[in-house]
Amino acid sequence: MRELKIVAVVVAFSVLTYYLVEPYAHHEMHKQVDAQGVEIKVESHGFTYDGSDDIAEAERKGDVALAQKKKAFWAEVADISKLKGDAAVGEAGFALCLGCHTDTGTNLGGVVPPSLEHAGRIYDKNYLIALLKDPAMASNVNHKYADTLLHPMGSIASMMSDKQQIADVVAYLLEKKAGEVTPEEAYDEACMRCHALRYANITQLGKTPSFKQEKDALAHKIKVLDEQDAIKAYMGKLPPDLSMIIRARGEHFMETFIENPQSQLAGTSMPRVGLNHEGYEKVKEYLTEAGDPSKKAREDLGPWVIGFFVLFALLAFLWKKHQWRELH
Ligand code: HEC
Ligand code: HEC
Repeated sequence: MRELKIVAVVVAFSVLTYYLVEPYAHHEMHKQVDAQGVEIKVESHGFTYDGSDDIAEAERKGDVALAQKKKAFWAEVADISKLKGDAAVGEAGFALCLGCHTDTGTNLGGVVPPSLEHAGRIYDKNYLIALLKDPAMASNVNHKYADTLLHPMGSIASMMSDKQQIADVVAYLLEKKAGEVTPEEAYDEACMRCHALRYANITQLGKTPSFKQEKDALAHKIKVLDEQDAIKAYMGKLPPDLSMIIRARGEHFMETFIENPQSQLAGTSMPRVGLNHEGYEKVKEYLTEAGDPSKKAREDLGPWVIGFFVLFALLAFLWKKHQWRELH
């Protein structure tokens, strides 16, 4: 009986810690407060982008001019969103993108511009419109630039000054660059240019090939280090390896952070990437898989281990009965 009471007490305390103390401590430690000390609730917007977060941020800072500028910017995005784009016309505009978005892996102003092969599938439409108007404003990193034209994709603003042209290019992306996308492709296009993924053997330059000659392996390593230096100069720090991140961070954090990095890390240099719901789910799937490559093997093994324990318990029980019978 005494043992049972001890077990009950231990279980009660564990449950209390797990369900009450830990979440409370987590909440307190990650609390976001505004200038007046009032708690800010960071909420997900279901991976849609209308600038309301960005405007609220500027207002919280008390920067009236910036809030006005953001309002005007996102109002224009909403206007363009209502235009009917013509994908056939947009194809010509899309050719301008390929000047930077080449498939040669050439770094441009800090990162290798990503492949746009599934851009119409993984990014939100409003976000794409905003991105073609002003990349720094769209990704909410305008605070890094005295002039948003200085963003490495900033010159797009001068190439796409016409609203209808933006609508056409976005229509082209939504029609022609929206094929089935794998989790790995989504990660490659949205995150890989900045984040390595050690467990999946991925660096900012993509999957590391296996080299026969040590000399080639070293040469590749130097290329990766050079690339990382360029990203460090662009971002102010090397973005963290994402192998373990999905396990370290909760669902709510990940969702709201990807939607708007500023909401969780004010002042961060990580841009909003503008993923839509599907794009985020794909990236998440890839990160989960990469962060836990032995998950499947473990889950396959699980039933066998449990079976073993059941069998073992049964044998132990029979053995005990057998022993006691002899003692009687
Ligand atoms: C243009 C570069 C860039 C891209 C693209 C990018 N990130 Fe980041 N990311 C950063 C930088 C820089 C940091 C470090 C932020 C800091 O500490 O201020 C970061 C930090 C993070 C963190 C850690 C946040 C924390 O807990 O501290 C996560 C998670 C993350 N990124 C996920 C992603 C995912 C998922 C994608 C793709 C959908 C992505 N990032 C795309 C630059 C980037
Ligand atoms: C002047 C060079 C340049 C041009 C022209 C250009 N881009 Fe980019 N683009 C970049 C760079 C550099 C990045 C990566 C920026 C970053 O990660 O901070 C990028 C990123 C992107 C992204 C990823 C955005 C995100 O938030 O993850 C998309 C989508 C994109 N460009 C679409 C386009 C489209 C569509 C066009 C043509 C209409 C275009 N780009 C033209 C340089 C360019």
